[in-house]
Amino acid sequence: MRKLIANRAANISPSLTLSITAKAKKMREEGASVIGFGAGEPDFNTPAYIIEAAKKALDKGYTKYTESSGILPLKRAICDKLKRDNSLIYDPKQIIVSNGAKHSLFNAIFALIEEGDEVIIPSPYWLTYPELVKLAGGVPRFVKTDSENSFKMTPKQLREAVTDRTKLVIINSPSNPTGSVYTRGELEALGEVIIKKDLFVISDEVYEKLIYEGKHVSIASLSDELYRRTVVVNGLSKSYSMTGWRMGYLAAAREIVAAIDAIQSHATSNINTMTQYASVEALTNPQGEQFLSEMLKTFDERRRYMVGRIKSIKGLNCCEPCGAFYVMMDVSKLKGKAFRGRQMDGSVAIAECLLDYGVAAVPGIAFGADDYLRLSCAISLDDIKEGLGRIERFAREVLG
Ligand SMILES: Cc1ncc(COP(=O)(O)O)c(C=O)c1O
Repeated sequence: MRKLIANRAANISPSLTLSITAKAKKMREEGASVIGFGAGEPDFNTPAYIIEAAKKALDKGYTKYTESSGILPLKRAICDKLKRDNSLIYDPKQIIVSNGAKHSLFNAIFALIEEGDEVIIPSPYWLTYPELVKLAGGVPRFVKTDSENSFKMTPKQLREAVTDRTKLVIINSPSNPTGSVYTRGELEALGEVIIKKDLFVISDEVYEKLIYEGKHVSIASLSDELYRRTVVVNGLSKSYSMTGWRMGYLAAAREIVAAIDAIQSHATSNINTMTQYASVEALTNPQGEQFLSEMLKTFDERRRYMVGRIKSIKGLNCCEPCGAFYVMMDVSKLKGKAFRGRQMDGSVAIAECLLDYGVAAVPGIAFGADDYLRLSCAISLDDIKEGLGRIERFAREVLG
């Protein structure tokens, strides 16, 4: 029989987090109490006025296809946002609205990457990047960053990672999973290498609005040259708690946008029409500021508590995240230790053993960082307190 699954698909890693989530779910069904630190979405509902806008769109009969790349009022609202928040001037013809930022990333990588092209990805990384690069026939090249440098890639590291096959660098600031935020100076220094080595950039800015320390800077805004070389990816999932609506967008040079438009027109066409109208409301209604500042305040309170508490636990540590809503907990001291007869040789085994204490966390290996577990701040402070209490007892049992 012929080979069934194409290499392209067979080479994609299934989500590592799934087995922990599935085990946690099963335990809960059997009546156990499990605190889930895996949440990748804000635990807030979408603001009511955005939901109302979607209902109105339906009542008005906006239930048909639209332009594949998105309706003009939405593209205009995105251009206004990019100008207001990021000092970036785009024309609506430079915008494509897609099914979440994930789809925007897919489109950008598929439009830019040729078979064998190398893509530099600072590690720890959001787990989708390398899989998309591989799907497109590219080769992910990881640059390992460390906690001493707040998990940020230095210009020297970038320079050394470039080969004559390198085409693209992915920058994710603020970062999932590390929460690191690049400063303007750091981006300028990376930008110099990018221009000198003739590279392109995908700048994933989906956590832009969730910054506790520092200020968001888009690398595309630093010079005309970087503007031409960068695809800016953003969306509403995290900033307006709209993960289920599936709204992401990208902004780039016209040539890139035209190629992506052609891909999307055949792959998915437009994103759902009522989400587009709701997104116009999200991006233009001034109430958004209030919603955002409340969400940020809540995450900040949880983040501070988590960092302080983790640092107080013997054998554990963490780096303070400046953005996004995750804390990378350093569990390297637990690595190689035994727990109830099981050897913990890495973050997956540690996460599995931690389930015995009723805590589900994402193994850092999913992000290329096996010394860590990722804990989300998108759960209630009460759950965080209870969960970290359990983690403390677990660490005490392992380390004595
Ligand atoms: C770094 C990063 N980029 C992109 C996305 C995709 O977001 P969405 O497709 O919901 O817009 C996520 C979601 O978790 C993310 O963490």
